[in-house]
Amino acid sequence: MRILVTGGDGLLAHQLKKMGSNGFVFFFPGHAEFDLTDPGLMAQRLGEWDPQIVINTAAYNLVDRCEIEREHSWAVNAAGPETLAQLCAPKKIKLIHFSTDYVFDGVKKTPYGEADPPNPLNHYAAGKLAGERAVLRISPHNLVLRTSWVFDWHPTQAKTFVHTIIKAARESRALKAATDQVSVPTFATDLAQWTLDLLRQDAGGLIHAVNDEGISRCDWTRVVLAEAVQAGLISTAPPVEPVLGAFFNSAMRRPDYTVMSNENLSRRLGHPLGSWHAGLRKMLAQMR
Ligand SMILES: NC(=O)c1ccc[n+]([C@@H]2O[C@H](COP(=O)([O-])OP(=O)(O)OC[C@H]3O[C@@H](n4cnc5c(N)ncnc54)[C@H](OP(=O)(O)O)[C@@H]3O)[C@@H](O)[C@H]2O)c1
Repeated sequence: MRILVTGGDGLLAHQLKKMGSNGFVFFFPGHAEFDLTDPGLMAQRLGEWDPQIVINTAAYNLVDRCEIEREHSWAVNAAGPETLAQLCAPKKIKLIHFSTDYVFDGVKKTPYGEADPPNPLNHYAAGKLAGERAVLRISPHNLVLRTSWVFDWHPTQAKTFVHTIIKAARESRALKAATDQVSVPTFATDLAQWTLDLLRQDAGGLIHAVNDEGISRCDWTRVVLAEAVQAGLISTAPPVEPVLGAFFNSAMRRPDYTVMSNENLSRRLGHPLGSWHAGLRKMLAQMR
């Protein structure tokens, strides 16, 4: 089976690459080689590579920038997946696409299931919701995986929250983190494995794909620092000042509670999905 993975230089794509062929033939085009905002280029590449599956990891993920670069972020996160799904459908190519916990408004305060109604609070989330809806409308055979707070090691990029916190600690910067922003850190290696497992099951529809255990941004920061000390990446864990999200005075609205339930995915795969804790330790060992 031939599988094309868009966003080939990104974090999740790297973990898929790392898993080896698994009996599949993979193509990992980067941004310029397969641009979600260029329908002609996408059509040409699909014709050349003739995949049976497309895994769309490409996205514009700078949530704050999306609020400013509205047109561009919509083109990548909403119109891009829609066009890609339209190109795939007549060729019977299955499209696997990724979305976000940010589609929810955070009002619920108990884990969100797939049937809970989304209500995006910002432009990034609105674009991602439009993208996932288009992908499923164009073919119900397509699969959308919603995930959150993705982290992992990458050979050239150091832009996850975990990297940022360790860098700040090394530079002795004062750390403040929100106690009222709660979600589920998700290890990209696990997400890549679940994606391939679901692909083998030919799963379709909407599925929440996160590790176990919701945690606040503040506690997540403290855990990252404590584990980084254990891993020998920093000598001591600096104090983290707990604040409310409002402290950061962002013009953009963020949902506070976006923990998603992974019960559905766990049932489909037939095993618990496990905490992000083991993933964090693996990532830090690689950073060392
Ligand atoms: N990371 C998270 O915390 C998180 C949370 C929730 C959901 N997700 C979703 O999970 C999926 C995978 O995320 P990730 O963490 O692997 O993201 P990532 O590391 O940011 O990778 C995304 C890739 O997409 C590429 N890209 C950007 N614009 C593009 C375009 N117009 N055409 C083609 N490629 C383009 C980027 O390339 P350049 O850098 O060269 O532009 C980047 O290599 C995405 O759908 C994301 O929205 C991620």
